[in-house]
Amino acid sequence: MSFSDYFTQKAGGDRIFSVEAPKIKFGRGSLQEVGDDAKALSMNRVAVYTDPRVGQHESVAKVVESLKSRGLDVVVYDQVAVEPTDISFKQGTEFACDGKFDGFVSVGGGSVMDTCKASNLYSCYPADFLDYVNAPIGKAIPVPGELKPHIACPTTFGTASECTGIAIFDLLEMESKTGIVSPRIRASLGVLDPSVLASLPALVRAANGFDVFSHACESITARPYTHRQAPETSQKRPLNQGANPYSDLACLEAINLIGTHIVQAVNDPVEESYDALMFAGMLAGIGFGNAGCHLPHGMSYAVAGLVKDYAPEGWPDDHAMVPHGISVIVNAPAVFRKTGPACAERHWKAAEAMGADLSGTKVEDGGDLLADQITGMMRATGIPNGLSGVGYSLDDIDALTDRSFPQKRLIDNAPLSISRDELKELFRDSMSYW
Ligand SMILES: [Fe+2]
Repeated sequence: MSFSDYFTQKAGGDRIFSVEAPKIKFGRGSLQEVGDDAKALSMNRVAVYTDPRVGQHESVAKVVESLKSRGLDVVVYDQVAVEPTDISFKQGTEFACDGKFDGFVSVGGGSVMDTCKASNLYSCYPADFLDYVNAPIGKAIPVPGELKPHIACPTTFGTASECTGIAIFDLLEMESKTGIVSPRIRASLGVLDPSVLASLPALVRAANGFDVFSHACESITARPYTHRQAPETSQKRPLNQGANPYSDLACLEAINLIGTHIVQAVNDPVEESYDALMFAGMLAGIGFGNAGCHLPHGMSYAVAGLVKDYAPEGWPDDHAMVPHGISVIVNAPAVFRKTGPACAERHWKAAEAMGADLSGTKVEDGGDLLADQITGMMRATGIPNGLSGVGYSLDDIDALTDRSFPQKRLIDNAPLSISRDELKELFRDSMSYW
């Protein structure tokens, strides 16, 4: 079998890619089956993790009822922090240790699922907190063995935390976002019930939809796995392997689903739009879980971290924040104009999957065509106009660049190498689009 020319091996590059496929259940009503699923995973005493807001929702009540109806002993922990930190991970762990549970169920967004993964890990294999955290901040010690079963039930879409072996948090003493990455912390089962999306505000649907799009588009335009240096041993092959034929399949379909449904799903949703968005989020999660993101995500942590006074409608209004999906997509058009020439055909295909009319266009203009299509859809769904739309000005470019340039894992996964000056230029080009 021969793959596309994009995967032609470079001297010293890897010849192998691996596939980490999550176990998933998908469909409206699937939350009602969680009790059966927990029983099948031999759970008896279950900790249900959620946050104070989601804890009030119908979805938690449905899950708890389903677990109890199968005779399981259930204790709810509703104190997960919305932007988790090392402190809140430790609090979740304490609850897990005290309760002597034999299984976990998480119901909520990425914060809830990630906190549950970390609590499961540290309660099964107690260690100094930084032991399992990514290097160079932590020691990145491999997770010693299997964890207790965990069923992850997202109440939003986009993070794909139910698909990945990643738990992200803020390390307070260093004021930086980092994470724990291991296939062993992946949930045993992800339960995706699209009916939970009906309660999300319109701008939240837009932001999460563009996060999904960007996961997929960054994965498909990532440096090919054959250009990454081959690892010394198979165990050292990273999760972010670069673009590969498996993640391409999932990502192109995710882009197509987002392109077809996002405007309606934001402005005038019907039930089918929720199915499409949630399924796209899952596909993109499988894609970026194996390929990895690059510049829009690498730049997003600084955009979220240095926030001044932006407080969007639909999120808690007690503090300023740039929600994740918005902090990603405000960089994306500038990035794809820049990366376009490195793999024009991939950008062109992504633009087509996003719904652009490409008749009479040239493949070599793929990056610009994709950027134009994204910008049009941002406008149609109420996304802010670039970095200026979320409160930044040209005076912030140095700070944004300083904070982003160390994100080597993501920046090195781009299809071309980016210098510090080029990164600065990308922030400048992301200031406004219309
Ligand atoms: Fe993301």
